[in-house]
Amino acid sequence: MEAIGAGIAAIGNTPLVRLRKVVPGGAAEVWVKLEGGNPTGSYKDRMAISVLNAALERGDVSPGDTVVEFTGGSTGTALAFVSGVLGLKFTAVFSDAFSKSKQQAMEAFGAEVLVEKSVDGAITHELAERMRLRAHALADQPGHYYADQFGSPDVRTGYQTMGREIAEALDGDIDVVCAGVGTGGALMGSLDGMREMGVAPHVVALEPSQSPLLTTGRSGGHKVEGIAVFPDPPFLDRSQVSEVRMVNQERAFEMCRKLAREEGVFGGGSTGLNVCAAIELAIELGPGKRVVTFNCDSGAKYLGGPIYSPSQHG
Ligand SMILES: Cc1ncc(COP(=O)(O)O)c(C=O)c1O
Repeated sequence: MEAIGAGIAAIGNTPLVRLRKVVPGGAAEVWVKLEGGNPTGSYKDRMAISVLNAALERGDVSPGDTVVEFTGGSTGTALAFVSGVLGLKFTAVFSDAFSKSKQQAMEAFGAEVLVEKSVDGAITHELAERMRLRAHALADQPGHYYADQFGSPDVRTGYQTMGREIAEALDGDIDVVCAGVGTGGALMGSLDGMREMGVAPHVVALEPSQSPLLTTGRSGGHKVEGIAVFPDPPFLDRSQVSEVRMVNQERAFEMCRKLAREEGVFGGGSTGLNVCAAIELAIELGPGKRVVTFNCDSGAKYLGGPIYSPSQHG
C-alpha cells in the first residue's frame, strides 16, 4: 500500500461539548462541535480531503499537478495540507483582507500564495470577484486543477461525517442547527449527514448584520472571515432553512473572547457569531431543547487581529 501522510487520519471525530457558563439558566442546551481540533485547525479539512480524493478517483487531477483555489485562508490551508499529503502542488489566490497568519499557514504546508490587494482591509464582493477571476485564469493552464470550493458537489459531501458524528453523540436528539454561511457547505452537508441518520432539526442560517446579503441582498464590508461573501451561497438550499438571522460582528467578537476565557473554547469570528445566535435561539426555545452549532476553526488563526487584539484595531 502506498504511504499516506499521517495527518490525514486526524481529520474529523472532533469533540462535541455543551456550553454551560455562557448560556443563561432557563435556556435550551447549547452544544458546539470543536472543529478547531482538525489538523489545520478548521472544519475545512473535511471538505479538502473529500474534494481532492474524489478528483483523484475520477482522474481529473494526477500527482504532480497543481490545485488552484481562491480563498480567505482556511480552505486554502486545508487544501495545501491535503494536496501535499496526496502528492499535489497547491496555489492559493489570497488577499491582505485576511489574517497574515493564514498566509503563513498555507506556506507552511507548501503552498504558493498570490495576494490580491483589498481596499482598507475590507472583505467585499468586489474583492472576491477579483480573486475568483485570477484563480480561474491560473486554473486554465495545463496541469492545473480548480478545486472549486463554491461549486464542487464533493464540498457538501465532505461535511456529512460532521453531521453523523453530531447525531451519534446526541442520540439524534437535536432541535436546531445554526451556522454562519460562506458556501453553505458545512451547514447543508452536516444536515445531510444528520438526515441520513433520521434526524431532521430546524436549520437557521446566520450572517453578520454588517453585510446582510442573505436577508437584504445588500453587501457591506465586514470582518467575519469565511462567511457572508456571496449573495447566493452555492450549497445553501433555502427550502431547507427555517430562518436567516443577523448577528452584529462586534457581539460575535466579544463572544469569542468570553468563550476563550470562560469556556476554554477558542474560535474565530464565525464561531463567535454561531454561538451568539445559538444562545439567542436557546433562550427562545427554553429548557428541554437542544441547539447545535460549530466552532468552525481555532482562534489561534486570529491572534493579532480585531478579535483578540481589539484595542489595536479601534
Ligand atoms: C472560519 C470560517 N467559518 C465559516 C465558514 C463557512 O463555511 P461554509 O463555506 O461551509 O459555509 C468558513 C468558510 O470559509 C470559514 O473559513
